[in-house]
Amino acid sequence: MSHIKNEIKKRRTFAIISHPDAGKTTLTEKFLLYGGVINTAGSVKGKATAKHAVSDWMEIEKERGISVTSSVLQFNYGGYCINILDTPGHQDFSEDTYRTLMAADSAVMVIDASKGVEAQTRKLFKVCAMRHIPIFTFINKMDRDAKDTFDLLDDIEKELGIPTCPVNWPIGCGKAFKGVYDRRKKEVGLFSDTRKGTSIGEVKKVDINNPEVDWLIGDEAKVTLNEEIELLDGASAEFDQELVDKGELSPVFFGSALTNFGVETFLQHFLAMTTPPLPRMSDHGAVDPMTEPDFSAFVFKIQANMNKAHRDRIAFMRICSGEFDAGMTVYHVQGGKDVRLSQPQQMMASERKIIDKAYGGDIIGVFDPGIFSIGDTLTTSKEKFAYEGIPTFAPEHFARVRQVDTMKRKQFVKGINQIAQEGAIQIFQEYNTGMEEIIVGVVGVLQFDVLKYRLKNEYNVEIILENLPYEHIRWIENEEIDLDHISGTSDMKKIKDLKDRPLLLFVHEWSIRMTMERNEGLKLSEFGR
Ligand code: G4P
Repeated sequence: MSHIKNEIKKRRTFAIISHPDAGKTTLTEKFLLYGGVINTAGSVKGKATAKHAVSDWMEIEKERGISVTSSVLQFNYGGYCINILDTPGHQDFSEDTYRTLMAADSAVMVIDASKGVEAQTRKLFKVCAMRHIPIFTFINKMDRDAKDTFDLLDDIEKELGIPTCPVNWPIGCGKAFKGVYDRRKKEVGLFSDTRKGTSIGEVKKVDINNPEVDWLIGDEAKVTLNEEIELLDGASAEFDQELVDKGELSPVFFGSALTNFGVETFLQHFLAMTTPPLPRMSDHGAVDPMTEPDFSAFVFKIQANMNKAHRDRIAFMRICSGEFDAGMTVYHVQGGKDVRLSQPQQMMASERKIIDKAYGGDIIGVFDPGIFSIGDTLTTSKEKFAYEGIPTFAPEHFARVRQVDTMKRKQFVKGINQIAQEGAIQIFQEYNTGMEEIIVGVVGVLQFDVLKYRLKNEYNVEIILENLPYEHIRWIENEEIDLDHISGTSDMKKIKDLKDRPLLLFVHEWSIRMTMERNEGLKLSEFGR
């Protein structure tokens, strides 16, 4: 057990969340550079594919298997074994993006200094906050004109509701960017643009009390810095590891991923402050990787191969405890059977490689003969516990599905149900009518195209999607509710899911509050349990 414990203790498994273009790919790439995984910047895949238009995306179906929305990058740095979970942005944004966060122990939030908190950051943040995992903020692009630093922090606190604690502080921005001040070490790291020099670059550090600082950053910048530090020391929250661990305080760092400034400092601080694999709740109580010797994992993502000839699926699982051996037999709790986990693989940048060992904290993808569902537990423990399920995330786009050829009803129902099972789409029915009318909900609009394409290609069924104006969905948490008696707004629609659970759709966000006000005791939730 002790070598397993040591392996697990080294693991740091986190996701990077950001709004498209804030610099997630660039930052990831710089991390890999420090990890010695790549030698030159610009070799990480993902960015190019993320920018593929829908038609291109269809073209690359053969490669798609698991590589397009590729999943996890693993590398070693400073004695740690790091797993970065990829959360695709851009038009690939889908439920998978949210689910991936269920497999992370902490999150790095990248914010563009000229923009502050943006829409996608807000959405992803909510999921992290729901899980109470530590959240670290990297404010990027300081080499460009940025918003006022205090305003940026204010923005995070107000928009996201999390207090911040700046670990370092920027000195100027854009053309006048001089570097960052490390509040703990009381030293200034001087900015140098590494774009033209070495890829890693070295940051010159000078003690704040060293008179050299005045001329190195300029008198004016020094005066401003002094004022800001004073203000900051009086006003900002103190660093408190316990609050960070609970996701109630976000340490903030400033830098510039492109010029590779502040990235290594950030990585070092972050690794020291973040957590090794955490215990997870199961129906037998919390399972702690430090005390549970047996292997256990849960499935958080299933990806079907787009290649028609091989309808294989890959199930991605997060190992929560113990050691994984290639080809091992484990108990599939939901299926009630032993299964052999075959073809285990790990993704490295654009490649997948077959692995033979993995540990708590790691993510592996295994061949799925069609037996796994999202949220399923696998374990070698005699206790056969099941991890807590993965919530259903609120879709934001809805469409009514119509079949072109109504004779193919059977294939249609089978196809749409299977695709829904993989978690790519959610399906709902009209509240009063039967299966005749199906409404699909998706988190990212690209999923509509995927649905159409896959039904045609894999099930030979053509559909027409008629967009609906709803953008907000709420699960009704009250068990015994009579939908007929809910008095809603004119833009509200009552629907039910496949388990006959009642839900409400709204066009406008404000109608949600109004409906709650009109129906005392009504409990609505953004996440379906
Ligand atoms: P994303 O994954 O979050 O979508 O962002 P990505 O890293 O792709 O970065 C988006 C754009 O922002 C890229 O420019 C990238 O070079 C730039 N960028 C990232 N970090 C910094 C930074 O610290 N400073 C500055 N000035 N720019 C930064 P692009 O023009 O879209 O792509 P490219 O032509 O440079 O490849």
